[in-house]
Amino acid sequence: TIAVDPAATGPEIADSMYGVFFEDINFAADGGLYAELVRNRSFEFLPADNASYNGLTAWTPGAEAGGAGTASTADDAARLNERNRTYLKLALTNPAGGRYGVTNSGYNTGFAVKRGATYDFSVWARSDAPGGTPLSVNLRDTAGRPLAAPVSLTVRGDAWKRYSATIRATAGTDAGRLAVLAGGTGTLRLDMVSLFPRDTYKARPNGLRKDLADKIAALRPGFVRFPGGCLVNTGSMAGYDAAANYERARSYQWKDTVGPVETRATNANFWGYNQTYGLGYYEYFQFSEDIGAMPLPVVPALVTGCGQNRATDDPALLQRHIQDTLDLIEFANGPVTSTWGKLRADMGHPKPFGLTHVAVGNEENLPDEYFANFLKFREAIAAEYPQIVVVSNSGPDDQGATFDNLWAKNKAANVAMVDEHYYNSPAWFLGNNKRYDSYDRNGPKVFLGEYASLDNKLFNSLAEASYMTGLERNADVVKLASYAPLLANIDHVQWKPDMIWFDNDESWGSTSYQVQKLFMNNVGDRVVPSKSTGKVIQPKPITGAVGLSTWATAATYDDVKVTTPDGAVLFSDDFSGGAGQWTPVEPRGSWSVVDGAYRQSDAAAQDTLVKAGNITATEYDLTLKATKQAG
Ligand code: AHR
Repeated sequence: TIAVDPAATGPEIADSMYGVFFEDINFAADGGLYAELVRNRSFEFLPADNASYNGLTAWTPGAEAGGAGTASTADDAARLNERNRTYLKLALTNPAGGRYGVTNSGYNTGFAVKRGATYDFSVWARSDAPGGTPLSVNLRDTAGRPLAAPVSLTVRGDAWKRYSATIRATAGTDAGRLAVLAGGTGTLRLDMVSLFPRDTYKARPNGLRKDLADKIAALRPGFVRFPGGCLVNTGSMAGYDAAANYERARSYQWKDTVGPVETRATNANFWGYNQTYGLGYYEYFQFSEDIGAMPLPVVPALVTGCGQNRATDDPALLQRHIQDTLDLIEFANGPVTSTWGKLRADMGHPKPFGLTHVAVGNEENLPDEYFANFLKFREAIAAEYPQIVVVSNSGPDDQGATFDNLWAKNKAANVAMVDEHYYNSPAWFLGNNKRYDSYDRNGPKVFLGEYASLDNKLFNSLAEASYMTGLERNADVVKLASYAPLLANIDHVQWKPDMIWFDNDESWGSTSYQVQKLFMNNVGDRVVPSKSTGKVIQPKPITGAVGLSTWATAATYDDVKVTTPDGAVLFSDDFSGGAGQWTPVEPRGSWSVVDGAYRQSDAAAQDTLVKAGNITATEYDLTLKATKQAG
């Protein structure tokens, strides 16, 4: 029986309560939301980003009609600019009528090309051929059949210039190719070879893939947290250094991501791939505005999290990052006469974006070092922009010593809002509905920046929905909440579950997406207190697999037991007799039995080891215990 008292007044629920968390994981940006179709458009892919890369990744050189030449990438004084250093060099030796060039294969099976749709091609080029170099731009299928009439351009002069053309597709495919072929002889240099569908979200140039942006917009999110996650706060904390350009995997720094796209740096992504920053801070702010959501950027705290334990000991570097954060606020909100406000205006948005919140850091493992830095960020921001809410965090996933330590510090320092993250089983979400009932009403507010029940099945999303009623009941404490991660390209998955899945031409929401959509589209004004009485229906006994996850470090387990609360052992394995029924699920590393222990060899993997069988207890009663061996 549920008793509701409509006259009673519970906490108000802010329209912004439910939002989204966008991180460039699972190719969510390049090859995902960012509508650019050409992969490695600026030839900056490097083995330092990913061991399988080289300057010609996704490109295939080739000749047609008896043409000849060679293709290589170069990083020398002839470069496009200091940040976009590597370019494609075609040494052309074509006989009359011959063509030589390169073909791009995109991110998945190729580009999705729609019959009748318009595409915007552009390229930066220079040629030392006295009469110029004829260029033919071709949209094709995998068999080389044309999907559009070829477009002809002539590159004139040995100075970088942007050339552009419109292509209308006369046929469609989900595996398109872009071939750029040159005639004549001499040296042709190409950079920023780009192809966008004209039909981007809100028809913005350098825009977003429409079906994905539409799906996010349909959620009607109250806020967009960006750009990460682990992406933000790891790697080198140094800035872009032209002299030592290949300081890859530096932390995400917003100044790398603004200005004309051809002048933006590229970087090695935390998740193991190249990121172009074509989708950068301006685009994040613009998208947030377009979908009516509050932008909520996360800046690096100069203490790494996500399995790394490093804090800068360089006060000048810390100061530079604090200044960068002040500059970010000026970029978002400053007048067009200010340095960074002017850049925003030059990029097309003279009006301020209305930034109100900035989060410092993500899941730091070193609470003392993190909090010392956080206070310095907060002090500097408060001095210049007292109206900005500076969001702190509670360290790595959920509870534990770092969590408790950071919460105590946050409380003692009167922090306005603390970011919490957790990924758990559906049973955990069902069993922890009351988590926030006991939170201090006078302490920091909660920003639940990342959470998900660990699968993409209906039961997971029901558990999330159930849990969200607990968030909402505590809307006086929990002010913001976002499921994570948001997007996954099915061919490039680093993390799951995810809210929205896609390939190159289709996208679909998970059941968790539907739950989020339901809540976000029906945010109440206030909580109406209610009480339920009666028999609690227990979840059905489960049969199936139990799992054991490892995070970010090679792990060795022995003596694994699954027990009921009264100590009955349902499964146990000391692995002395081999691997038994334990199976690795989607391993990126490999598990093996060594010296009577189950051992995972891949230091960077996050894998699950499961054992299938009949478990005759309610799911949420089970305890899984494993001894993790040192080393
Ligand atoms: O959402 C995926 C990752 O989970 C985020 O990058 C990180 O913050 C968390 O550990």
